[in-house]
Amino acid sequence: MILVTGGAGFIGANFVLDWLAQSDETVVNLDVLTYAGNRENLATLDGDPRHVFVQGDIGDSALLADLLARHQPRAIINFAAESHVDRSIHGPEDFIQTNIVGTFRLLEAVRDYWGNLHDDAKQDFRFLHVSTDEVYGSLAKDEPAFTENHRYQPNSPYSASKAASDHLVRAYHHTYGLPVLTTNCSNNYGPYHFPEKLIPLMIVNALAGKPLPVYGDGQQIRDWLYVKDHCSAIRRVLEAGSVGEIYNIGGWNEKPNIDIVHTVCALLDELSARPDGRSYREQITYVTDRPGHDRRYAIDASKLERELGWKPAETFDTGIRKTVQWYLQNQSWVANVQSGAYRAWVEKNYSGRSA
Ligand code: NAD
Ligand code: TYD
Repeated sequence: MILVTGGAGFIGANFVLDWLAQSDETVVNLDVLTYAGNRENLATLDGDPRHVFVQGDIGDSALLADLLARHQPRAIINFAAESHVDRSIHGPEDFIQTNIVGTFRLLEAVRDYWGNLHDDAKQDFRFLHVSTDEVYGSLAKDEPAFTENHRYQPNSPYSASKAASDHLVRAYHHTYGLPVLTTNCSNNYGPYHFPEKLIPLMIVNALAGKPLPVYGDGQQIRDWLYVKDHCSAIRRVLEAGSVGEIYNIGGWNEKPNIDIVHTVCALLDELSARPDGRSYREQITYVTDRPGHDRRYAIDASKLERELGWKPAETFDTGIRKTVQWYLQNQSWVANVQSGAYRAWVEKNYSGRSA
């Protein structure tokens, strides 16, 4: 079996669902269920013996030791993290605790477990750490995309905490021989994306008749990948990646934020027109920029394609259409995640930004 951490969040839940759609290998899913973790994402697995959900913290050493001893996983995929840049600006502490201290505790527990495995199991074991392109910092307009050799230059508390976790993972390989793999992926989008991030926030706000808050000039560039392509890349790296290696994952889909918002508006105009017949574009509002806002991310994913033969299945056009359709068809999911805590976050992040 495999152990997945953070498997009730956006990417983790998509990964668990895709894994069990393609394999009968059991998944133990350890997730503490922060605001971003949602059991409803996994509702289709209720009663499925191949999915064992455990509510708990990757920083809980005793729980980890017990889980590892009991389930004897052949691999661990570490998704668990605090993941939202704006939240890291308002309150970095949770990011330090989970992304750095939590990853450290997880690595310690895994080192102990792995050290006691017999030879074959020890050799076959893998610890796959899921990370982000944001650790590489910001690119100027004409600079080449990030390769795996790009220097680390994180600029937000979120990216700094992920960078620290990547370094710990690397150190556990070099120092203790732990068989690790690290993936650094670009921005994901797709089903179950919490509506604090750009794409789901724009869809949800548009349908609710609210402003579509574009930070600064809207010309910041992100490199977008459909979440299921990220999941297939992780499966491929787990299966065939070389121990100790880093693999960048991306979709060769650089787009300025404002183009993304225009695309979302155009799809909504087509699929769920406003009652007054006007375009959702009229709801776009430029607001005060994010402090320290990275200008451009771009991933060079050629190593993954060259060495492991992975390529994304979706183009941006097909992926964004599926995503908008998913949100239109799952409005009760959206309503359920918009708790009082969600509304408090929206108030905190947007009320101070002048239009
Ligand atoms: P998310 O915020 O949607 O989900 C994170 C999950 O981790 C939640 O279910 C949460 O409950 C759980 N979690 C948080 N702290 C925990 C703890 N201490 N112990 C156990 N579980 C905990 O995040 P996501 O977008 O699904 O991202 C998953 C991973 O992928 C993160 O490591 C993130 O850095 C990385 N990543 C994300 C993106 C992206 O675009 N979303 C891109 C590249 C890499
Ligand atoms: P986000 O989805 O938070 O991902 P990240 O910051 O990790 O790339 O933001 C994507 C881009 O969209 C980023 O440049 C910030 C911008 N953005 C807005 O313009 N308005 C918003 O309300 C949000 C949440 C993000």
